[in-house]
Amino acid sequence: IPVEVFDLVIFGGTGDLARRKILPGLYLRWLAGQIPAEARIIGAARGELDDQGFRDFVAASIEEFVARDRKDKAAIKGFLERLHYVAIDVTGEKGWKDLKALGREGAVQAFYFSVAPALFGAIAERLRSYEIAGAEARIVVEKPFGRDLASARALNATLAQHFEEGQIYRIDHYLGKETVQNLMAVRFANILFEPLWKSEYIDHVQITVAETVGVEGRGAYYDKSGAMRDMVQNHIMQLLCLIAMEPPYHFDPDAVRDEKLKVIRALDPVKPEDIVRGQYLAGAGEGSYLEHSGNKDSRTESYIALKVHISNWRWKGTPFYLRTGKRLRARESEIAITFREPPHSIFDDHSGWRENVLVIRLQPDEGMNLKVMIKEPGPGGMRLTQVPLDMSFAEALANTMEDVPDAYERLIMDVIRGNQTLFMRGDEVEAAWAWTDPIIQGWEARGDRPQGYDPGTSGPEDALMLMHRDGRRWRGIGQ
Ligand code: BG6
Repeated sequence: IPVEVFDLVIFGGTGDLARRKILPGLYLRWLAGQIPAEARIIGAARGELDDQGFRDFVAASIEEFVARDRKDKAAIKGFLERLHYVAIDVTGEKGWKDLKALGREGAVQAFYFSVAPALFGAIAERLRSYEIAGAEARIVVEKPFGRDLASARALNATLAQHFEEGQIYRIDHYLGKETVQNLMAVRFANILFEPLWKSEYIDHVQITVAETVGVEGRGAYYDKSGAMRDMVQNHIMQLLCLIAMEPPYHFDPDAVRDEKLKVIRALDPVKPEDIVRGQYLAGAGEGSYLEHSGNKDSRTESYIALKVHISNWRWKGTPFYLRTGKRLRARESEIAITFREPPHSIFDDHSGWRENVLVIRLQPDEGMNLKVMIKEPGPGGMRLTQVPLDMSFAEALANTMEDVPDAYERLIMDVIRGNQTLFMRGDEVEAAWAWTDPIIQGWEARGDRPQGYDPGTSGPEDALMLMHRDGRRWRGIGQ
């Protein structure tokens, strides 16, 4: 179903995110017939381009970032005609009148701030002072949304001077991933899992976001951030919330976000001994983190593993083990829920017994896998063995998975539809920083250094110990 007619202004329209994700994503939605013919996409950036120059830029980005079988000449031509460009100085006065002149009645207005957060205030203010943004206008902001609680609060306060919370769309692109949303469907549209979804029946949860890429090319940003700020405070926190939250009364933006907020507020502080930080070493023909970051003395982590507790009725006694890192063995994101042992075994030979595990794979090969015990086939008596009930979404849903929009495509369309469910609310972001801050302050105060790890492995040795000492094991990465 096409969305309403809209005008989407992208500040930073010639930047890296626009080139790699936003513009190719919009093209794919156009190809899917979701973007109305009267919609306009307006690039706004410092460069002295005209409409044609911007169209050439976008054509090149489609060429580079869209799969070959989705490149359709006629569709690309039609899409490029939807594009306009305004050369603008976001901290000065140049270009703002031109942007205002493009305004029209009757179109949904959305403004994507694909720029450094330091510029959010200047843009928000000018959208108001030049009377460009109407009462219903929506603004979209990207991470990093602050680097600690104080800066996140300041950003929220700046935006709140000019826009209502209901107009602000804070992107966490993990929420736009198909399988991340599927988490909610699996939990709340089946009776199977929810009755067991508590510490009485769940031994522990593991969340892994492993990457093979390093930080080359973006070392300057990353070195001020590190895995905790770059991945845990936002993406992994969102996954944790969707797993741990109470059932919302309705699939509605505030109902869902209220429940996520309660989870974040119930997180215990993390003890130093429950954190392992790592930094990748050189190897396999690639430089080390220290080389890639350009900071020889860096103490920033490119890997982190943590053991986290949620202090509420449902989760008391069930640890959540979280880990994420760069330059690991495989690109693999998954959530694994390990259930407890049945209270009593009726079998003499219990040796084959293993825990039930529900694995939700986010990427690659999205799917679910439930490990269950059965009798080992054959005449050997009653012996137990574990088998997977494996479901690959691509196989099970062969016809419908092809046009699954990627995270950015989906989220941009949600902005136009005015649906905030998959966006972070201001109080949620602040609560996440309130939990993160003391953890980071702790290692800074102690002067902790991350442990080196070899690229192509599953991270530092100490991370294994984090689970071993609890009598548990991480699932393998890339196996
Ligand atoms: C970004 C981080 O938000 O997410 C990157 O800044 C990271 O460091 C990326 O690589 C991972 O996203 P995805 O969608 O590739 O898992």
